[in-house]
Amino acid sequence: MKLSVIGVGYLGAVHAASMAELGHEVIGLDVDARRIEQLSAGEAPFHEPGFAEILARGLASGRLHFTTDYADLADAEVHFLGLGTPQRADGFGADLSHLHAAVDSLAAVLPARDGAATLVVGKSTVPAGTARGLAESLERVDGVHLVWNPEFLREGFAVQDTLEPDRVVYGVRDPDAGGTEVEMLDAVYAQILEGGVQRLVMGFETAELVKVSANAFLATKISFINAMAELCEATGADVTDISRALGMDDRIGNKFLRSGVGFGGGCLPKDIRAFIASAEDLGAGQALGFLREVDAVNQRRRVRVVELAREMLGPLRGRRITVLGAAFKPDSDDVRDSPALEVASRLMASGAHVTVTDPEALANAERRIEGLVTEADASEALRGAELVLLLTEWREYRDLDPIATARLVAAPRIIDGRTVLTPRDWRAAGWEFRALGRPEAPVADHVPDPELALF
Ligand code: UGA
Repeated sequence: MKLSVIGVGYLGAVHAASMAELGHEVIGLDVDARRIEQLSAGEAPFHEPGFAEILARGLASGRLHFTTDYADLADAEVHFLGLGTPQRADGFGADLSHLHAAVDSLAAVLPARDGAATLVVGKSTVPAGTARGLAESLERVDGVHLVWNPEFLREGFAVQDTLEPDRVVYGVRDPDAGGTEVEMLDAVYAQILEGGVQRLVMGFETAELVKVSANAFLATKISFINAMAELCEATGADVTDISRALGMDDRIGNKFLRSGVGFGGGCLPKDIRAFIASAEDLGAGQALGFLREVDAVNQRRRVRVVELAREMLGPLRGRRITVLGAAFKPDSDDVRDSPALEVASRLMASGAHVTVTDPEALANAERRIEGLVTEADASEALRGAELVLLLTEWREYRDLDPIATARLVAAPRIIDGRTVLTPRDWRAAGWEFRALGRPEAPVADHVPDPELALF
């Protein structure tokens, strides 16, 4: 089928290349000419495992193209909307201006299909009610239908999540009627659906709510365990044992129960805030009051790491601190609302000499924080440190050898901000070891952690 993807940021670019991988003819559009040049040249604008390969394959097959001109989309049968919906500058709500601008530009070229069935598929994360509003204007063009098809991909697993999703959700105007829009989207996803994945058809508003409630639930799970970490700090208990014991209950499950410096990225933080704002607009603000607390717990963890640094070093002015990690999570170069970078900024503001290292995210980090000192080589970054903070759990940081690392630093002190290290090993190698939600002194009979694999 002939498809377009409008907005080739993270979500849209992965979607476009994945659809070409499924055999469709795809044209990706963005107003950012530089991004279009990069993608057309086969350069991945972000670090995402497997993306560069499917981009190269799509371009080589001749099925994948990129453009800045809406006129080039006029003959596509299906248009995906992959626009970003960031937090508004003036409050918690989502900024839908990119989405509305794209829909207006698309609406201008849709009549070129002369009434032939044409599908518009919204993938962006939006407040409930958005799709119905867009349908009103789009469906005025003869033959045009709208489906809201939220995306659940995780950065770091984006290609896999797109090609092998764990569920597919279609939001339609009338879920009981089925009809052309469901058939057309089934045809696009035929190969994915043949794999047996559950496809759920529901109303527009329900599909919109499924997406935001999924992210709100994940954020709540993380803040729940981080709230337990606060209690552990007050009682001397160990949050990693709580995670492990809770996770063994099938009803709870062990994923997204890793305590630490909390969630960041371009989705969870802004999505819970937009959800709060939209519930308030709907007169249902009370239902989501708890999400304010989820956000507050998350922010407090970032502050707590800086307090811990102060407890270990005293005044931070002039002290040499190395931060391991800049990305908001491993296997990504995304630094949007990154806990690691916020902690680094707070330490810098306290006068510490901070060096940040990360395998992939340093260029983005430097663009985001003026005057940030970075070092790509982790051993170099560690050299001479008086305190080390592990804030993004890249495999290479999880695997650091405490004995070898002690030889690099000026003083062996470490804060494990992601609860991924085994305290006993680090303490045995002479390190002063602190972690969020874990006892300051070793518990005599504490069993060392098995490999934590909570994701
Ligand atoms: C999130 C959702 O997981 C996806 O399902 C959704 O499609 C996506 O947002 C989106 O709306 O586009 P992502 O932003 O890639 O995906 O990141 P997550 O894997 O959810 O991680 C978010 C943050 O939570 C990271 O900073 C991570 O370090 C942190 N986290 C995760 C924890 O602190 N503890 C955990 O146990 C798990």
